[in-house]
Amino acid sequence: MAEPLPPTRRNRASLTYKVRYAAQNPDRIKSYLARVARDLRFRLSSRDHVAYYRAVMKSDTAKNPEAAVGSRSHGRWLALGQMQFDYLRKHGLKPDDRMLEIGCGNLRAGWRFIDYLDPGNYYGIDISPDILLAAQNTLVRQELREKLPHLTLVNDLKLRFLPSGHFSVVHAHSVFSHSPLDVIDECLAHVGRVLAPDGFFDFTFDRTEGTEHHVLREDFYYRTETLISLAERHGFAARFMDDWEELPHGQSKIRVTHPA
Ligand SMILES: C[S@@+](CC[C@H](N)C(=O)[O-])C[C@H]1O[C@@H](n2cnc3c(N)ncnc32)[C@H](O)[C@@H]1O
Repeated sequence: MAEPLPPTRRNRASLTYKVRYAAQNPDRIKSYLARVARDLRFRLSSRDHVAYYRAVMKSDTAKNPEAAVGSRSHGRWLALGQMQFDYLRKHGLKPDDRMLEIGCGNLRAGWRFIDYLDPGNYYGIDISPDILLAAQNTLVRQELREKLPHLTLVNDLKLRFLPSGHFSVVHAHSVFSHSPLDVIDECLAHVGRVLAPDGFFDFTFDRTEGTEHHVLREDFYYRTETLISLAERHGFAARFMDDWEELPHGQSKIRVTHPA
């Protein structure tokens, strides 16, 4: 029997993968077919990827905001936020940092950043009005009103309403894993302007060592070198964060900075 492929070599879009997965998980076939039908509907009614993914988030948030950002249970939602926070603390986050969180969702990690940072120093943006309303509920639940965080709806990642050289930390967790390359390219083309000279931008991505692919228009898999060279083309230094791989999280992480 063939050896199972390691996760980074699997192509979730291939027919072989789908047939094998269906045979091993017959109970998931119905929900997968529902997702395929939804994908078709949203693709036909959306003018671009942002509109498409906004519709996905509207549909998922209506069912459960914590599941909409990828957590199966409240316990997982708490743990995933803690993991992001602990890692960033270990890798340089300080209370006086000015943080931009791209794709902040319902503040799974954001509420911990807000709690830790000096008042007014957290700025979260997202394309989904529905998840931003859920983010307000998180703020209320965690009693963080006095920290005066900013939560803003965006249509693109040009960041043109934000000040130049302002943010010492930019963070995008599990956002590029849902983004086609042109969206990532747009982000990298503009984030350098708002990033402070000695600041850094950390983002996660779904890594493949095989063929780059996507599943529906929801999950995108990239090779590390694709994203590193894209960042370099936009004038950044970029490095793969090896120690993130040790954590129980399926994605990988890259840090970009202005060159020394
Ligand atoms: C999987 S959730 C992760 C949310 C948050 N970063 C966390 O870890 O809990 C992805 C979030 O990114 C947002 N998003 C997706 N594409 C985006 C884009 N192009 N610009 C801004 N936000 C985006 C989604 O609406 C969603 O809230």
